[in-house]
Amino acid sequence: MDKILIKGQNRLKGKIKNSGSKNATLPIMAACLLTKERCVINNVPNLSDVRTMMRLLQRLGLKVVFNHNTLIIEPGNYKGDTATYKSVSVMRASVCVLGPLLARQKHAKVSLPGGCVIGPRPINLHLKGLKALGADIDISRGYVVAKSKQLKGSDMYLGGAFGSSVLATANVMTAATLAKGKTRIENAACEPEIVNLAEMLIKMGAKIKGHRTHIIEIEGVKKLGGATHTIIPDRIEAGTYMIATAMTGGDVTIEDARIEHLGAVIDKLKAAGISIIKKHNGIKVKATKSIRPIDVVTLPFPGFPTDLQAQITAMMCLAKGISIVTEKIYPERFMHISELNRMGADIILESESAIIKGPRNLTGAPVMASDLRASAALVLAGLVAKGTTEISRIYHLDRGYEQIERKLSSLGAHIRREK
Ligand code: EPU
Repeated sequence: MDKILIKGQNRLKGKIKNSGSKNATLPIMAACLLTKERCVINNVPNLSDVRTMMRLLQRLGLKVVFNHNTLIIEPGNYKGDTATYKSVSVMRASVCVLGPLLARQKHAKVSLPGGCVIGPRPINLHLKGLKALGADIDISRGYVVAKSKQLKGSDMYLGGAFGSSVLATANVMTAATLAKGKTRIENAACEPEIVNLAEMLIKMGAKIKGHRTHIIEIEGVKKLGGATHTIIPDRIEAGTYMIATAMTGGDVTIEDARIEHLGAVIDKLKAAGISIIKKHNGIKVKATKSIRPIDVVTLPFPGFPTDLQAQITAMMCLAKGISIVTEKIYPERFMHISELNRMGADIILESESAIIKGPRNLTGAPVMASDLRASAALVLAGLVAKGTTEISRIYHLDRGYEQIERKLSSLGAHIRREK
C-alpha cells in the first residue's frame, strides 16, 4: 500500500489550479443514465471515485471514455439495473444511480450502503422521496429493490434530523425529471453541486426551478436528450489548500476557486486573521504571523462544510487560545483527532464538539488515514510539523484530491509518495 511522506515546516507559495468537483461529478455521471443520447462532461477530476462510477456505469451498459479531464458517456447495450454491494461498499455515492435507473428503466436494485467511518449515513430520505414519487420500494437481502411503471410528481418534505441531504436531493430531483406532473421538494439541499447537477439536467431538457434554494420544483418531461456540461471547481479542494496556506504562513493563489462557494470558509479564515483577496480568476490567501482561535459549526450550504471540519481542526491546533469546532452534519466524524493528538495536538472531544487548545508545536509521526477528509487534515498537520510525517492508507486521499503531491510540491512542500 502507498504511503505519503512529508517533511514539514516549509512555507507554501505560488499558484495552483482548482480541480473539478468530485461531489458534483458523481451524480452528474449517474444522470447520464436518463438519456439515450451522448453526454460530454468537462473539467472532471481524475480521481479513484470517478473511475469507480465509470466502472459502475459501464456495468450498467453505458459506454464511458475518460480522457484529459473529459468524460464522454454514450448509451450501449442495456445490461441490467443493479448496483452491487461491492460497488456501493467501495463508494457510497454509487447510490446516485438509484433515481436515474428507476426513472428510465422503471426498476433498480441498489445495495444498501451499511456503516461508514464518518457516521451512520442512512438513505431513508432517498427512499422517502422516491416513494413519494410513487415507487414501490422493498428491502431484500441488503438491497433496495425499487419499481415503478410511471413515477408521478408529488410534493414532499426531504429534511432529516441533520437538515437537508445532498444525494437524496440529487436522486429525487433526477428521478422527478421523468415523472408525470409536478414535483416540489421542500428542504432540498442547495449545495453548489446540486445546482451544477440541476443545470446539467436542464441542458438535457428537464424543467427545474428553484435549484439555488431549499424549494426545488420539477415539471416532468417525457424524455431527456444529451448535453455538454462543465463541472464546477471543487470548493472542498480549494478550502483545503486555503487552510494549508494559512497554516504554513504561506501566500498562494488558487486559480478558478469560486468565492461564492466558499463564503463561510472565507469568513472563518478572516476571523482567524488570514487575508483573503478575490482575484479575477480565483482566490489569493495570505497568512499572517499568528492565527487567532475561532469557533466553527458545520452546517448544510451556505454554512461551513463538514468536508472541511477535519482540516480547520488541524489549523486551530496552531491558534493561540481555545477553539471549538462543532460537527452538526456527522456528529461522529472525529477520527482525525486521535491521530492529530499523536502529532502533539491537544484536542478533547465533548459530544459533537472538538475543543482545541493551542498553539501547539506539532511533530512528525507515523499516522493512519481513516477517511478522505481526515487524511487531508493529516497532510496539513504534516506540512507544519517538525520532522517527517508518514501517512498510510492514502487510498482515501486519492478518492478526492487530484495530484495532491504534485500541487503541494509546486508550492514548495516536501512531499512524496512511497510505493
Ligand atoms: N441523512 C439521513 N438520511 C438520508 C440521507 C442523509 O439522515 O437518507 C443524514 C446523514 O446521515 C447526514 C446528513 O443527513 O447526517 C447529511 O448527509 P447527506 O445526505 O447530505 O450526505 P451525502 O449526500 O451522502 C454528500 C457528500 C459528502 C458530504 C455530505 C454533506 C457526495 C458524494 N458526498 O454526502 O462528501 O460530506 O454530502 O455535505 O456528494 C466527502 O466528499 O468527503 C464526503 C463525505
